[in-house]
Parts: sequence; C-alpha cells; structure tokens
Amino acid sequence: MSTKKQLLQILSENENRFLSGSELAARLAVSRTAVWKAIGQLRKEGYRISSVQNKGHCLTSGSDVLTAAGVENYLKTPGISVRYYREISSTNTVLKTMAAEGAREGLVLIAEEQTGGKGRMGRRFYSPPGSGLYMSILLRPGTEASRSTGITACAAVAVALAIEELSGRPANIKWVNDIYMDKRKVCGILTEASVDCESGLLNYAVVGIGINTLVPAGDFPQELQTIAGSAFSAETAVPHLRCRLAAAVIDNLMTFYQNPDSGNCFEEYKKRSFLLGKPVRIHRPDQEAIPATAIDLDREYALMLPVICLGNLCGSWLTAWLESLTRVGP
Ligand code: BTN
Repeated sequence: MSTKKQLLQILSENENRFLSGSELAARLAVSRTAVWKAIGQLRKEGYRISSVQNKGHCLTSGSDVLTAAGVENYLKTPGISVRYYREISSTNTVLKTMAAEGAREGLVLIAEEQTGGKGRMGRRFYSPPGSGLYMSILLRPGTEASRSTGITACAAVAVALAIEELSGRPANIKWVNDIYMDKRKVCGILTEASVDCESGLLNYAVVGIGINTLVPAGDFPQELQTIAGSAFSAETAVPHLRCRLAAAVIDNLMTFYQNPDSGNCFEEYKKRSFLLGKPVRIHRPDQEAIPATAIDLDREYALMLPVICLGNLCGSWLTAWLESLTRVGP
C-alpha cells in the first residue's frame, strides 16, 4: 500500500485528533518530508487536513472521506455489503465479473477513482478522486430483460431523491439515465445486464451510478465544461457527504426494488422528468429526425408523443390527418 493510502487510513482512524509529524513518519516508516508530500496529495484530492505547529496533522470531521465502513454506517437496508476501492478500472466491469462468478445480490462496489470509468454508448465517464461518487450495485431480479429500464429509472429517482434530501435543491431526470441540476448534468447511470437466453430472464443487473459531488470549478475536461456540473456546492455540502449520499441512494433504490408494484418510483419519476411537455426529436434509422412533444410516459417509461405517421412516412403531408400517439421506448 502506498504511503498516501496508509496515511489516509491512520488519519481516518484518528479523525479530529492531531498526530505529530514524527509519530506519523515512525508509523509509516518514512521521512517527515514524505509525510508532508503525502498530506499535500491528500489535500489536492479534497481531504481537509489541518496542520498546526507543535501539534501535528489532523483530518477534520467535515472531511468527505469515502470508506465502506462509512457508507455502511449510514445504511438502513439489511443485506447490503459494501466494498471500497481506492482505485479501480470501472466498478461496473469489476462487479460484472464478480456477478458472473456468483456474487450475491446486494454487493456494492464504491471507488475513490476510476481509471476506465464507462459511460453510455461507449463513452468515458470522468471519474477523478475526491470529488465524485462512483458505485455499482448488483441486483438479481430474475425478471424479464425488458424490466431493466425500470431498474435504471428507479436508480435515477433514487439518486434525485438522495441529492434533494441532502442538498435541499431540486434535481431533474433526463430520460432515463441522467440527473440534471440547474441545466447541468450531475449524474449518469449505466445499467449492464446478463440475460439467460433460454428463459429470457435476467441473470443479473449491475447498476452503475456516477455522481459529480463537488468538482472544483474549471476542473472538468474541456469537452464537459459547458455540460457537466456538481450536485453540491460549498454551501450545500454536508460532512461525510459521499458516504451519506451513497447510503441514501442504495436505501432509496432498494426500497423501490423491493416494492415494485407500489408505483412510488413512477410517480416520483414523472414529477422530475425533464422531457415531459418539451419538444424532442425522434431519430429512427435511415429516416429524417421527426420533431414532436413528449406529452406523457407509460409505465415502462416510454415517451408518448403525438406524431403524424403512416408506415414509414412519418411527418408527411399525405398523412396529415392520421395524427396518433406514438410510443418511443428508452
Ligand atoms: C453516462 O452518463 O453515460 C453513464 C455514466 C455511468 C458512470 C458510472 S460510475 C460507476 C459505474 N462504473 C462505470 O464505469 N460506469 C458507471
């Protein structure tokens, strides 16, 4: 384990307590200069460490340290097991391997940093340390594969509710994977599943959730500068933010998952839906995009759109009288 990781472990175990530089150096078997260097790196990652002459160094309780024990401390749902990684390629990729090897429902992987964070449609998900929450939850619903959209939608509601609860600010859902605040994307969800080809049922679903909790202004890569935002600010951030947020998201999602017929998820989704009442464009293979307005959602989270359509001739003047509701699935 690196000096920085070991130092973080010792400081976390002694939160709000000063430890002298010489004691830390002795415990880590490194020089005091190496301790200073590691403290500087941790500060850069967002840890709040006070250093006072003749007293030493102390991790303050306002720090946003992410640990498995920290998440479990706030969790209410029984049967969840959390594993923490300081660095991982992708929590989804690793959890999928574990799922294929028989890991149990309720296993959650959380990471401080992802080196190969995945987004939808082969995109990358920006996953730096200290300012985001990257986690994947393993579910084994044993239902038809088409139900995975409902799982993703409920994960989106779970995130929106958790952010609202902790920040006091509204969050909206863009169909069905993205959470927006103040017109900026603060969270993306990627659900990956394995289907039993014979029965058509899901072997497992891995729900991957990435939230930008508190990314310093200007830190997003150039291409995300005008699109991405943070769910929290210095004013709305609470102590142990990421542990509390992770626990709240898991609790909310598991409540929806364990009560699929309650309709609560669907109602909460509709209240936060970004697209209802808004103009959208329907893209179909080899056809021109069709403008329409999303007027409603069905229970499978498909958008209901009034579109002028006859066979392949959507939007044609010939069919102007055949206006009907078209269903577009996620
Ligand atoms: C998107 O916005 O396109 C979806 C982003 C999903 C990111 C999360 S972070 C945790 C999990 N691991 C990954 O590699 N991706 C998901």
